[in-house]
Amino acid sequence: MAGDINKNGWLRIVGLGPGADALITPEVSAVLSAATDVVGYVPYVDRVAPRPGLVRHGSDNREEIRRAEQALQLTADGCRVVVVSSGDPGVFAMAAALFEALEKAGPEWRSLDIQVLPGISAMLAASARLGAPLGHDFCCINLSDNLKPWGVIERRLRLAAEADFAMAFYNPRSRARPEGFARALELLRQACGPQRLIAFARAVSTPEESILVTTLGEAEPEMADMRTLVMVGSSQTRRIECPAGPWVYTPRSAS
Ligand SMILES: C[S@@+](CC[C@H](N)C(=O)[O-])C[C@H]1O[C@@H](n2cnc3c(N)ncnc32)[C@H](O)[C@@H]1O
Repeated sequence: MAGDINKNGWLRIVGLGPGADALITPEVSAVLSAATDVVGYVPYVDRVAPRPGLVRHGSDNREEIRRAEQALQLTADGCRVVVVSSGDPGVFAMAAALFEALEKAGPEWRSLDIQVLPGISAMLAASARLGAPLGHDFCCINLSDNLKPWGVIERRLRLAAEADFAMAFYNPRSRARPEGFARALELLRQACGPQRLIAFARAVSTPEESILVTTLGEAEPEMADMRTLVMVGSSQTRRIECPAGPWVYTPRSAS
């Protein structure tokens, strides 16, 4: 990256929420309306309607650093740039990639006008659908081993189970790596027992939404895909049977 900084440019790193337009914050809608350029993974850029004066730069998965550098360059050129992620931009998404690129760039890039605008993360949208599974202490783990070794994931799963956290899992399973989630389920079954509650919240807030609540003993790896947020309860998490389906919640106190 090189060049003089044009002070008219700004960069907003935003989250589009889990899918429904109603879950995009007004703050994010406002910067999208003012943008000259939208940068992101193709399916997320496609969620921003085309309009005159807006250039949409969609790129492939796993191109985060190149995309971040492109966004910094456009901003330095004086464009009004919005980098889009799904959910929240700081949760397994573009904000960290942007700061990795900024840190590597020369000191002159640090005067760019940059803001991160929050979005509703899949974990929070799924939690609301289920009831209140995150009502007490919890942790969240990305089950993809693209950017970390599988051994690190297994260690974190074991320690989270030992600490009796409720757990939220992003990126549980993809076609490229179907075996990892089966191993994670087996580890959790051993550590937490077969009666422990597990929920599969798929495509939350979209027309394809589905919610499945079961136990680790009954769970199958095929219940998750890349559009699923998986939650495993703590030992205190319980379900309330209701005609419209179960509520899942974790009481606020623990002994
Ligand atoms: C790369 S991560 C991006 C997370 C995003 N930044 C967020 O805060 O939700 C993609 C993962 O988020 C989860 N996810 C995203 N949207 C979802 C939705 N509408 N319903 C369920 N899970 C979703 C899935 O686990 C998916 O594999």
